[in-house]
Amino acid sequence: MSGEDMLSLEKYFKKRKKIVDDALEKYLPGTDNFPSTIFESTRYSVFAGGKRLRPILCMASAEAVGGDIETVLPVACAIELIHTYSLIHDDLPVMDDDDYRRGQLTNHKVFGEGIAVLAGDALLTEAFHLMSSRNLMENVSSDRLVTVINEISKASGFFGMVGGQVADLESEGKDVDEKALHYIHTHKTEALITASIRAGAVLAGGNEKDIHALSEYGRKIGLAFQIADDILDIESTREVLGKDIGSDKERRKVTWPALFGLEPSREKAFELIGGALTDIQHFDEKALPLSKIARFIVERKS
Ligand code: IPE
Ligand code: IPE
Ligand code: MG
Ligand code: MG
Ligand code: MG
Repeated sequence: MSGEDMLSLEKYFKKRKKIVDDALEKYLPGTDNFPSTIFESTRYSVFAGGKRLRPILCMASAEAVGGDIETVLPVACAIELIHTYSLIHDDLPVMDDDDYRRGQLTNHKVFGEGIAVLAGDALLTEAFHLMSSRNLMENVSSDRLVTVINEISKASGFFGMVGGQVADLESEGKDVDEKALHYIHTHKTEALITASIRAGAVLAGGNEKDIHALSEYGRKIGLAFQIADDILDIESTREVLGKDIGSDKERRKVTWPALFGLEPSREKAFELIGGALTDIQHFDEKALPLSKIARFIVERKS
């Protein structure tokens, strides 16, 4: 990506992040509620930072099919809550046992393991409460909304992120093949990314052809995103990344670089992005942010 492109994407991300953060602030109950610990701990992780990639993709996808961001904002934020829950649980000692996340101590390091488990549970549950709040989603038909909630649940559960996390955990320290690695990456990470993109397009009333193209784009950038995450775990620093590095090697995780090496992993990620760009080439300039985000996914440093 050219320096100028990077700069305009940075501005775009900043603006979109602010929209998401403001909405999350509005949707999440305040710490004056009882029992305050659960509001404090959930807010601690949600507002620790984070790229807000999934809600930004959801909004960009809605715009790519001619919709607007306000219509999809509650669902976009709900997906960020699900993602944040997955990070809190992923960092627990019984999972990846990490101490830093989003530039600060992990949730369980500050609030203890019990509260961290409950903070994850609360965020997951609240996501569904938010998405199903009819008063916040009044521009969308119930049919469309139920379709989207159904897809997001699938992408988060048995046949999505949870399934991927289980396979990830059970593969630690084992020699697994490409098929198993592919299962882990597509389920633990790609599924929710694709669901975010599809949600935006479906809620905004995209046609079948466009939704199909965006799904293909999602599958490719979703997998590339986890490959890039694996590479960053080796090449980045905690200061830049905001989370512990070297964690995969320490826990003998099944990662793309562990199985194929760094260079082939980078090549694979770039190849996927090339394919994703082709998937959406028939869109007009409204899909330009999606093209830029795709490139960012493999060029990012954090
Ligand atoms: C980290 O996701 C977990 C993975 C699925 C690789 P992000 O890199 O999107 O984390 P935040 O939201 O920016 O903290
Ligand atoms: C986790 O993958 C994906 C999730 C569903 C949370 P990782 O375990 O590689 O994510 P990081 O590197 O801790 O963010
Ligand atoms: Mg993990
Ligand atoms: Mg982890
Ligand atoms: Mg990782």
